[in-house]
Amino acid sequence: MKPLIVANWKMNPISRKQAEHLFGSIRKEICGIQNVEVILCPPFIYLDFISKKTSKNIKLGGQNIFWDRQGPYTGEISPQMLKDMGCDYVILGHSERKKNFQETNEFINKKIKASLKSRLKIILCVGEESRNSFNEDGRWTGEVDLILKEQVLQCLEGIDEPQVANIIIAYEPVWAISTVESGCAATPNDALSASLLIRKTMHQKYNEKIARSLRILYGGSVDSKNAVDFMKEDGIDGVLVGGASINSSEFTRLVKAVSGQYLSAEQRNYR
Ligand code: PGA
Repeated sequence: MKPLIVANWKMNPISRKQAEHLFGSIRKEICGIQNVEVILCPPFIYLDFISKKTSKNIKLGGQNIFWDRQGPYTGEISPQMLKDMGCDYVILGHSERKKNFQETNEFINKKIKASLKSRLKIILCVGEESRNSFNEDGRWTGEVDLILKEQVLQCLEGIDEPQVANIIIAYEPVWAISTVESGCAATPNDALSASLLIRKTMHQKYNEKIARSLRILYGGSVDSKNAVDFMKEDGIDGVLVGGASINSSEFTRLVKAVSGQYLSAEQRNYR
């Protein structure tokens, strides 16, 4: 499997002109890179023009959907609409939506089911809010295990085995997101611990094959300098990038760094 880099532009940039420029610069720099999968998730209103200009190695995703196909839901976008706009993916369960729009695991579960029906692949974000979940010596307290396990199980309630292949899980500790006060990246070791816990939960809920083949990303203050450190961990299959994805030179440096790392990792029979 190629490493995966998801760019979450959030509510940026401010104008179509800037979005065109950002996308154009990124595409120009990375269109020749074939050993990394890149998924761009811009605001809805930029999807249309980007989908017309995107290249083979850049896929598109939305940042949210509503759980019904169409109807009286003012201001909402359906999974079918995203699909129609050229998206293959959607980010669900992002902590910013949980915080600002009170999204619960139950809501997220409905959105996952609706997205699967429309053949969208899902990037499901999970993560604990506070760094206090770590002991003084930096080891996890059982609390994080419980939080992550509960999020995974509640969000995937009623999702059967064949459908799980369309779900990627992003471990995004809320305290590590760059825009959170004093947000700084988790360590690769933190990310690995979370990925092991998530795989264990998936093993218990489904089976070993699903647990092994699940793609797990790390997100939270990822940049061109630290991305490869996360990817070196056997168990982390990619990164979800916010702030660093809206700076074209930083983002292309990041993609190139991961691309270079992957080549050498491949030579070492990495995964
Ligand atoms: P960040 O955002 O890379 O700016 O920390 C990641 C995210 O919130 O998805």
